[in-house]
Amino acid sequence: MRIDIISVLPDLIKSPFQHSIIKRAIDKKLVEVHFHNLRDYAINDYGKIDDAPYGGESGMVMMIEPIDKCISKLQSERNYDEIIYMTPDAETLNQQTANTLSLKENIIILCGHYKGIDHRVRDLLITKEISIGDYVLSGGELAAAVLCDSIIRLIPGVLGNETSALSDSFQDGLLAPPVYTRPAEYKNIKVPEILLSGNFPKIDNWKSEKALERTKRIRPDLLKNQ
Ligand code: ADE
Repeated sequence: MRIDIISVLPDLIKSPFQHSIIKRAIDKKLVEVHFHNLRDYAINDYGKIDDAPYGGESGMVMMIEPIDKCISKLQSERNYDEIIYMTPDAETLNQQTANTLSLKENIIILCGHYKGIDHRVRDLLITKEISIGDYVLSGGELAAAVLCDSIIRLIPGVLGNETSALSDSFQDGLLAPPVYTRPAEYKNIKVPEILLSGNFPKIDNWKSEKALERTKRIRPDLLKNQ
C-alpha cells in the first residue's frame, strides 16, 4: 500500500511514522508513506496557498490551485483508489472504514488548515471525507496520523499475530473484554479465576459476556448497529 499525505506542515505528521508498529510496517515495505508540502505547489514565490474567503467571513481558506496541482502531479504518476480530506464536518472514522481502506493500493490524504479548503476541491477532487471525532483540531495532520495508524496496523503482515487485530475493540462491533497479566494476585486483587482455569471454551464465553457487558455500560449506542 502507498499513502501520500499532503499538508502545509508535513514535519508535524512525520513522527508517528518513525516508531513502533508503523515504523516496522514501513521497514518491512508493507506500506510506503510519502509527505508532500503544499507550499511546493504555491501560486507565487512567497509560498501563498491560502486567501480570504468570498462572502466576507474571517479566517483564511486554502486555495484550489496548489491542491489541484499537487493532486494532479500524483495522479499523473499512478492511479489512486481514494483521495481523502480530513475535516471535522464529515462522517466519523470507525473500524469498518479502517478495514476497507486497509485493502486499498494507493490513497492520498489531504490535511486541511485555517478555515478549510475551497469547496470546489471537495466537490471535484476529493472522493472521501473523514472526521476523527466531533471536536475541532488546529489542522488535519494529527487526524491523518490517527487514520493512517488505524489503517496500517490492519495491513496483512503488519501485526505479528494476525488474529490480534481481529480481536480489537470494535472489530466485532463490541468493546474488547478486560485483559490481565502476571501476577495473578496483586495487593489482594485477584485476576478473575476463570482465566487461570485452562478451560478455553469457558474462557471464550466469559470474554464474550464481558465484552457485551462493557459495551452495554460504556457504549450502548454500538448495540443498536448489531
Ligand atoms: N481537522 C480538524 N479537526 C478535525 C477532525 N476532528 N477530524 C478530522 N480532521 C480534522
